[in-house]
Amino acid sequence: MDPKLAAAKAALKYVESGYVVGVGSGSTALVFLNELAEAIKGGLISNVRLVATSTETEYEIVRLGLGELLRYPWQVNGITVAVDGADEVDEGKNLVKGGGGALTREKIIDYWADEFIVIVDESKLVDKVPSRHPIPIEVVPYAWPMVKAKLEKEYGGSAELRYSSSKRGPVVTDNCNYVIDYRPSLRIEPSEGERIIKGIPGVVEVGLFNGLKVSRVIVGKSDGSVYEFK
Ligand code: A5P
Repeated sequence: MDPKLAAAKAALKYVESGYVVGVGSGSTALVFLNELAEAIKGGLISNVRLVATSTETEYEIVRLGLGELLRYPWQVNGITVAVDGADEVDEGKNLVKGGGGALTREKIIDYWADEFIVIVDESKLVDKVPSRHPIPIEVVPYAWPMVKAKLEKEYGGSAELRYSSSKRGPVVTDNCNYVIDYRPSLRIEPSEGERIIKGIPGVVEVGLFNGLKVSRVIVGKSDGSVYEFK
């Protein structure tokens, strides 16, 4: 079984009828959404409401015929459980997210959830976050040169404006902002990095997610088995 599917199926066990479900973004979260759609259509789960973490996920919810269950964040009083993917996870459950540029709404919904479940395949596991991936940072468009300069002065390395491969010019997020991908040369501790980078004027959100906000990580393996850590 595909490791993403194995993790998605395991996450579905934490979703019950009546829940408000935060639905993550990216390929792994969309596998989970497909499983959830099947459970809803099959009558195994009922009376749920779905809050999407990106435009991509909103479209998928509608495409799967679940549009009537879709709610904006202001239409719910809370999120019972959020299920989302990640670009990197370490043993402290710290995450890098935002490879798809959806980090801001993801963090709002995921941090708001009573239970935040991360689903990944083994390729996402690293010793210490941030590691292989740059840190995505959503910025107000005209502020990007200042944010880039501040990051490079503070932590060294390089901060690059993310460009689109399918449109000329920078990637524009669901919130009409830009994304900087930052590779520091100095070691950044995730929670401190989250706090400091978020404090730079012009930064909307940073794709470092604090492990203390994550309830459990479900890892799908290539043999179809899964394991969890909390
Ligand atoms: C979206 O912006 C990201 O945070 C995704 O959750 C993350 O990139 C994981 O995506 P995949 O499941 O496609 O690897």
